[in-house]
Amino acid sequence: MRIQGKEYRTIWYEDKIVKIIDQTKLPHQFIIKDLKSVKDAINAIKVMEVRGAPLIGATAAYGIVLAIHENNSQEFISKCSEELIKSRPTAINLKWAVDRMMKKLSGINSNQILEVALKEAKEICDEDERFCEDIGINGLKIIEEIYNNKKNTVNILTHCNAGWLATINWGTATSPIYHAHKKGIPVHVWVDETRPRNQGANLTSYELNEEEIPNTIIADNTGGILMQRGQVDMCIVGTDRTLSNGDVCNKIGTYLKALAAHDNNVPFYVALPSSTIDWNIEDARDIPIEERNSEELSHVEGIDENNEVKKVLIYPKKSKAMNLAFDVTPAKYVSGLITERGVCEASTNGLKNLFK
Ligand code: MRU
Repeated sequence: MRIQGKEYRTIWYEDKIVKIIDQTKLPHQFIIKDLKSVKDAINAIKVMEVRGAPLIGATAAYGIVLAIHENNSQEFISKCSEELIKSRPTAINLKWAVDRMMKKLSGINSNQILEVALKEAKEICDEDERFCEDIGINGLKIIEEIYNNKKNTVNILTHCNAGWLATINWGTATSPIYHAHKKGIPVHVWVDETRPRNQGANLTSYELNEEEIPNTIIADNTGGILMQRGQVDMCIVGTDRTLSNGDVCNKIGTYLKALAAHDNNVPFYVALPSSTIDWNIEDARDIPIEERNSEELSHVEGIDENNEVKKVLIYPKKSKAMNLAFDVTPAKYVSGLITERGVCEASTNGLKNLFK
């Protein structure tokens, strides 16, 4: 997708270096950062220079490549793979990508291991881009149907950033929106600010602006009244882990949006590549929910009148804060799952029929 008119992917490899767009600096600064070691990759995931389930997975895959540059013994690579998996707990794409890399590398001799790892990491990225494009084509049909009935701008609410910045390209939740816009269907996006890290305001609105898609940032609690007023035609969100029964784990606040959508008969869709499906956990209570530093709540970062980045405390100094990063939306509140293979019911049968 485009930034200042130039096409980018979110991660790429050049001369033994992995390049990323540092997402902690957006929207005020566009900085391409070099990851030169597996430690750099682990840190980038932890501090969220890269974030979003598919991109975390891709970064971990390239993390294995960087580990091989340092030391290509199986022992070192295995140790690094474990460290990478631990860098963030909730998005299943991280473990999925590392396991896929390790499976590919098992039994490969040391002369070939770098070449094989590089090829697989690139294939993980290329595949994600293809899958996200297909998610867009499949989700476009839903937007088109709403437009054909309404004959007016389709208002879509999204939460957090499940845009191209969270993937390699296209995004998951935003891909149907980009496809609709390219087809000439008028769309407008309600962007949940997404406290505490403001991925909606800082990243989703930013990327929609760059693609010239009309959007409006709203405080996280605004979606409910907009739905009551008939100003939301559909919701589309992403996910960090979807269980085989259709329960959806995503950014904190997604569940409340799904409840409001259910109460107001607003369709609530979740867009995901198959790498986000957890086929092993059966009970949503077993999903590891990340709890991040409470400073993400108590402090806010922005630019002042001199364009200088400032971080300020907004809470009473003595107050405690709790920062759970994800919640789970039960399948019964999900109208459908938009995947690379098509749209299905959020249920065991729905997913089984698509992914036999
Ligand atoms: O904490 P983040 O910014 O990594 O959370 C991202 C989300 O919750 C996204 O909705 C999810 O990863 C899907 S990205 C296509």
